Amino acid sequence: MTRTIGLMSGKGGVGKTTITSNLSTILAKKEKKVTVLDCNFTTSHLLMHFGKVYHPKTLNDVLKGESSMDEATYLNYTGVRVVPASLDLSDMMGVDVKMLGSKIENIFQDQDFVFLDNAAGFGRESISGMMASNEAILVATPYLPDITDIIRGKTILEDLGVDILGVVLNKVTGKKFELPDEEILELIELPILAKIPFDYKVMESLGLKTPLTFYDKKSRVSKELHRLASTLAGDNYIPAGGGILNTLSALVKRWS
Ligand SMILES: Nc1ncnc2c1ncn2[C@@H]1O[C@H](COP(=O)(O)OP(=O)(O)O)[C@@H](O)[C@H]1O
Ligand SMILES: [Mg+2]
Repeated sequence: MTRTIGLMSGKGGVGKTTITSNLSTILAKKEKKVTVLDCNFTTSHLLMHFGKVYHPKTLNDVLKGESSMDEATYLNYTGVRVVPASLDLSDMMGVDVKMLGSKIENIFQDQDFVFLDNAAGFGRESISGMMASNEAILVATPYLPDITDIIRGKTILEDLGVDILGVVLNKVTGKKFELPDEEILELIELPILAKIPFDYKVMESLGLKTPLTFYDKKSRVSKELHRLASTLAGDNYIPAGGGILNTLSALVKRWS
């Protein structure tokens, strides 16, 4: 069955698009069929994370009834199918984001995963994306303003009946001024799915127009994203390139 997973956060810039592009890349490498939708119509970036700025048809055209989802889908070299939103704000004319759910319903039945990369905040755009999702991942940095947003987001998702998988903490440095896990867990009452370190390599990958996990499996960011992807795919996480100890632990995991 297709899993439709929306990414949500209070603030922008916390890492939703980065996580969407990398998780989908890893899952596609695991032979999963994965489509990502840019549901951030007013500040769309998803296609750029896959190294491209233009595709002739977009999700805007689909919502206007002027294009099929197939025409608006770009198959990236990573194996991920990307449905971009238009970069041109005038393409918002005639787009009703509330139609998103009904437009994507029954379209992706052959896919294992559909990720919805949402707009930040809890406005019409992001709520429409979440209403079109069955499951949600909340993204935050380990600071109080983001964590209070998670609490707000959680209430909204519960009201919408969306299954919350948990929270991904991103840009984690481990410095003393960050909120400790115990405090975060007490506040959010949701599982922490992953803790992704802050790493300039993430920005480097954006500059190189390719998801980080596609070319660097050994960075700590990649490893954490691979671990998260394994959790979603329900398989055993096998760390990349960790030498004989990792190989042995992978073997033990496999055969136990
Ligand atoms: N773990 C990280 N370490 C360093 N920079 C990161 C990390 N995650 C994301 N970034 C950078 O932060 C910026 C915002 O990320 P983005 O994924 O666009 O956030 P959002 O989609 O939530 O607005 C981008 O420049 C991205 O490269
Ligand atoms: Mg984004």
